[in-house]
Amino acid sequence: MSPKAFVVPVIDSTHVFLPNIFQGKVLFCTGGGSGICKSMTETMMRHGANAAIVGRKLDRLAESAKELSEATGKTCIPVQADVRQPQQVKGAVAKTIEKFGRIDFVICGAAGNFLASIDGMSENAFKTVMEIDTLGTFNTVKATLHHVRATRGAYIHVSATLHYKGTPYQVHVSAAKAGVDALSAVLAVEEGPHGVRSNVIAPGPIGETEGMSRLKNQAQDKNPGYPLGRIGHLKDVANATVFLFSDAASWITGQILAVDGGCEHIRSFQ
Ligand code: HXC
Repeated sequence: MSPKAFVVPVIDSTHVFLPNIFQGKVLFCTGGGSGICKSMTETMMRHGANAAIVGRKLDRLAESAKELSEATGKTCIPVQADVRQPQQVKGAVAKTIEKFGRIDFVICGAAGNFLASIDGMSENAFKTVMEIDTLGTFNTVKATLHHVRATRGAYIHVSATLHYKGTPYQVHVSAAKAGVDALSAVLAVEEGPHGVRSNVIAPGPIGETEGMSRLKNQAQDKNPGYPLGRIGHLKDVANATVFLFSDAASWITGQILAVDGGCEHIRSFQ
């Protein structure tokens, strides 16, 4: 009988990093009302940061902001904006500055996704995801950059791993996230001299997310087993976020960190 495979435990970042490393710092997070970005925000707050979460649905944002503030003892404000609209993003930044007076960290996480083949996808559907993911990231960077320069802060862009190969039914997200990866590299090089860092986190299959539930059937069908024994947890992405924003990563910029438990390296022989 073969030995039981190792399953890596889910780690809480407060077991590794001090709970006050982001004390006095402010996070601006698009897409922070739910899923991966909400979890990233919560963990940043558990290490001392205050936060603004930005999205289209104010009801959901307000509920999440209340929940995050109560859970962490820090302050989270909900700010409504569609990242496709530059003026709305600028307005969200102004509200954040009005409340907190600074922005240290930005998570560009707002994203759209659904399954559709190239043949079956409308031009507008492709454009919509490109605009939310890629243009939305550009708009967010433009609106926050001067504030992030002032604090010598950092960006994390939430991308994906699915564009490293041809992933069926994901042409819109693949093209959009490839653009995000490129944007982050340019930002890192241009803004490094201003003391600003920019990195990408590329989550692999993370359970309990809207994106994953949409891709679930495919993911299960094709899944040849996870190298570290389990699917990703929201905390895995949040822990990487704490590291990349922390001083421990002060010489790391322009990088793409796949947080995928090794899934990207699985080769199928079928
Ligand atoms: C085909 C679709 C569609 C679908 C929308 N469209 N949903 N086409 N299949 N399921 C088309 C519409 O028909 C329309 O084209 C165009 O897209 C715009 O749709 P709207 O609903 O008018 O736009 P909007 O209200 O702006 O919302 C679009 C959306 C939303 C943001 C994409 O539908 C959506 O899916 N939200 C979920 C967000 C989400 O899943 N976030 C997690 C992302 S995870 P026509 O031609 O009819 O006008 C992620 C990581 C990926 O990104 C990696 C996972 C492993």
